[in-house]
Amino acid sequence: MRLPTTLLAEIDAGIGIKTGVNFRQSKSRLGTFSAPYAVVVDPSFLSTLSDRQIRNGLSEALKIGLAADRPLFDLIEEHARYLVRIKLQCEQGTDLICRSIRAMLLELSPNLHERALERPPDYGHTFSPIFEFELSDLEHGEAVALDMAISTALAMVLGALDTADAEQILVTQRDLGLPVSRPGVSTDMLLRGIHDAKKHRGGRLRMPILCEIGQTMFIDEISEPQMDEALTFVSSWSSVKPGVQHA
Ligand SMILES: NC(=O)c1ccc[n+]([C@@H]2O[C@H](COP(=O)([O-])OP(=O)(O)OC[C@H]3O[C@@H](n4cnc5c(N)ncnc54)[C@H](O)[C@@H]3O)[C@@H](O)[C@H]2O)c1
Repeated sequence: MRLPTTLLAEIDAGIGIKTGVNFRQSKSRLGTFSAPYAVVVDPSFLSTLSDRQIRNGLSEALKIGLAADRPLFDLIEEHARYLVRIKLQCEQGTDLICRSIRAMLLELSPNLHERALERPPDYGHTFSPIFEFELSDLEHGEAVALDMAISTALAMVLGALDTADAEQILVTQRDLGLPVSRPGVSTDMLLRGIHDAKKHRGGRLRMPILCEIGQTMFIDEISEPQMDEALTFVSSWSSVKPGVQHA
């Protein structure tokens, strides 16, 4: 029986059947598929979590909202700062937890053992293992947030996602206090992320990107100029104050 006590574990790591440990410079490389007898999710645990850990978990809620549940994204967008401030100890907080778990389980259940390698919950998890492993001061959700920002920019560069949607996503990320870019993230790092992702996705990239908020599509190729353009776009957000509409 699992009793998750962080937001990230209550809505993401604790509710699937996958366990993982780091191995030889790779994040979560070894593990098992093992279903718990039950998972007990009690939002009152979150009242003692640090703000950073609340944000860390909200990053995974944002991930599943962007990949599969537009109303969940709308809920996060509307209440972002309030949810962080009161550590989800409110009706909207409970609603967010329930919706996030429901959206995750709807995605995981038909593909429990990951025989299908095109997985919407992989959104934000193509480059993030490299970020989390190599940029040692990053929490999991922060690495996912950096990946989601780059994925958003890439979707825009590839013409899959409207610029207005991309900016709405980045504003929401910043309202949650999540990073959208940081020094040290380079094209070389992205290339290594792609190389690693291909290894565990059956030899193809199968990277989820957004074609609209709440809907993913999958790509197998990204060129270096497209990566450079995406990195330049997210870097331009570093100078914008949180919550301010990007020009
Ligand atoms: N298996 C999966 O599918 C999966 C998915 C996502 C993330 N992960 C992994 O999970 C790990 C992160 O787990 P996590 O975010 O649950 O963090 P964690 O277990 O590392 O806990 C984070 C911090 O919060 C503290 N803490 C925990 N509960 C608390 C509470 N109720 N009140 C006050 N403090 C509390 C802990 O002591 C710790 O200092 C990462 O290694 C990540 O890569 C795995």
